Amino acid sequence: MSKKPNVIAAEPPGDLTQSVLDGLKKPQKELSPVWFYDELGSFLFDNICELPEYYLTRAEIAIMRQHAPEMAQHIGRDAAIIELGSGTSLKTRLLLDQIEMPATYVPVDIAREHLLDAAGAIARDYPDLRVLPVCANFAQEFALPAYIANAERRVVYFPGSTIGNFDLADTQRLLTRIRGMIGGSGAVLIGVDLRKDPRVLHRAYNDEAGVTAEFNLNALRHLNRELNADFDLDAFEHAAIWVENKSRIEMHLVSKHDQKVHIGDEELKIRQGEHIRTEYSHKYTLESFADLVANADLSVTRVWMDPQKQFSVQLLEPRKLQ
Ligand code: AVJ
Repeated sequence: MSKKPNVIAAEPPGDLTQSVLDGLKKPQKELSPVWFYDELGSFLFDNICELPEYYLTRAEIAIMRQHAPEMAQHIGRDAAIIELGSGTSLKTRLLLDQIEMPATYVPVDIAREHLLDAAGAIARDYPDLRVLPVCANFAQEFALPAYIANAERRVVYFPGSTIGNFDLADTQRLLTRIRGMIGGSGAVLIGVDLRKDPRVLHRAYNDEAGVTAEFNLNALRHLNRELNADFDLDAFEHAAIWVENKSRIEMHLVSKHDQKVHIGDEELKIRQGEHIRTEYSHKYTLESFADLVANADLSVTRVWMDPQKQFSVQLLEPRKLQ
C-alpha cells in the first residue's frame, strides 16, 4: 500500500473534485467537515480543545477520569474495543487503563500516518492489548478484522460528540451500522454533547482568539492544495450560528463579496453574502438522544455526565437485551 498523508488523497481525485463541486453547486452550498482535517487542521483542532470557551473536551475527559473504572466493568474481560475516528487515542487511554486484559483494540481512522503512530504508541504502552488498526473512513462501510469475532464482547467507542456532525439521515444510518458491528451482545460507548444555553454554545464556536475561525477557513486552504483550487481565504468570513429548531450549531463560511473560484476545470460564482455550510454540531437532550438510538435498535443503559451536565458519555446496548 502506498503511504499517503490521509485517505482523502487516496481516493480517486476525479471523484473527489466532483463531490466537492456537487456540494458547492447546491442551493445551500456545503462542504464536508472532513476538509478541516489536514495536518494544520488537526493542529488547530487540538488548540480548539484547549480554548477556555470550548467546554466539550474538558468535560468529556473529566467524565472519563471519574467514571472509566465503571465503564470498564460494563465492558468486561476479553472485549474488542472498536474506536471510530481514533485520532491520538487520548481519551481511549483513560478507558484502556481500566480495561481487564486481555483485550483487543481496533482504532479506525482515515489519517493513515496518525493512525499508525497512535496505534504503535498504544501497543507499546499496553503490552497485553492486541492492537489491530484499520485505516478507513468510518462514515462509510468498512471491513473489521476477522479476529474480533473471537472476542467476548464487541464494543464500539465513539467519543468526542462526533455523532453530532451528521445530518439526521446519516446519523440514523451510522447508528444502524454501529448496531450491526456490535452484534447481539455488544455495546456502544458514545460521547454526546448536550443542549444548553445558546450563549454558551455560541461562545464555544466563536472563540475570542479566533482559532475556530482559522479552523473553518482551513477547509478552503486544504481544498486549494489538494484539488488545485484558488479560494481566497481573505474573501470569506467565519460564522457559527445556533439553529434552535434543528438543535444544532452550524458553521458557515460567508463570502465577503462577489467572487469566482476555480476547482479543477470548473469556475464557480459565489455571491456576496452567500454561505458555504461546513459543519453541523447537533446538541441533544437525554430524551432526544434516547429516541434517536431506539430507531437503530439500541437503548441507553447508562449515562455519565460531568458535574455541570454539559456533556455525556452514554452506554448503549441492543434493545432486545432489555
Ligand atoms: C470534533 C466534531 C466534535 O463539533 O464541536 C470544533 C468539531 N468544530 N469546533 C465539534 C469542531 C468547531 C467538533 N467535533
